[in-house]
Amino acid sequence: MNSPIPIILDVDTGIDDAFALLLAAKHPGLNLLAVSCVDGNCPLVNVVSNTLSVLETAGRMDVPVLIGANKPLASESNYALAVHGTDGLGNLNLSPKSMKPVDADASEFMKDLILKSAEPITLIAVAPLTNIALLFQKFPEVKGNIERLVIMGGSASLGNATALAEFNIWHDPEAAQIVFSSDVEITMYGLDVFYDVHLSAIDIRKLQESELLPARIAGDIGAFIANILGYPITLGDAGAVCAVIDPLGLKVERFPTAVITDKGAARGMTVVDRRPYRDTVENERALADSKDVDVALGVDGARYSKLWLETILNH
Ligand code: RIB
Ligand code: CA
Repeated sequence: MNSPIPIILDVDTGIDDAFALLLAAKHPGLNLLAVSCVDGNCPLVNVVSNTLSVLETAGRMDVPVLIGANKPLASESNYALAVHGTDGLGNLNLSPKSMKPVDADASEFMKDLILKSAEPITLIAVAPLTNIALLFQKFPEVKGNIERLVIMGGSASLGNATALAEFNIWHDPEAAQIVFSSDVEITMYGLDVFYDVHLSAIDIRKLQESELLPARIAGDIGAFIANILGYPITLGDAGAVCAVIDPLGLKVERFPTAVITDKGAARGMTVVDRRPYRDTVENERALADSKDVDVALGVDGARYSKLWLETILNH
């Protein structure tokens, strides 16, 4: 039996961030060292409160919750309350009973955790990349003890926040550009797989009828999403955590990838150069400001749905 994988999870909780948090908190194959919060789906104050509520419900008050960036590096916040509810968590109006965030600078705390870890750490970011960019800028030495950065973000095809850009990248393109141009190994769990890990109406009923409170909370969040978007619902961010637990469930290919930060229609787009002949074109036509990224192009959705459900219904 391998030892649990040490991870730090960066969130903008968020309904599907809550699914990701529950899996990260409950799965025995992961060692959740900390959760960092960032402005994204909803204001940072809601992200922190929602994150505390979910971890407290999951019985994980031992996990440090960090207060990160309250706005993007170079643009205004753009919340997604129509999807996530006015409280950012499906209008469940939860609030933590006693769990508090850590009173420390998020970048500094993450740096200390990463540098003192005996094993390289896997960072999982399911939110705008503001915290990750600030960490890399302030403490570049952490990159030497990061196994991989798994990002829920980007797209090799269409967008969701705009026609071309996925929300987490679009919310802070400057941060994404800093992260994507770093020398850390990146897996991009983007929109090409994001919607393919489902929960059915029967799954939601099983969750809501569970004797486990975290499962019931997940079921209520799922029912909220289904009321807006119908069934099946997507586990969204949780798929990125599944990819760390069970990488064989994901089909990835390595492509040069760059982030557009211009102020035009393509702002926040991840340009993935999938041209088979790209290595033969003249250099001046190579994708500018790109780096090779492992891009997820396919996922075994049933495999990841089963992994998530079995964990939440049995732990
Ligand atoms: O585009 C999907 C991302 O945006 C997810 O992280 C989800 O939480 C939403 O904020
Ligand atoms: Ca998210």
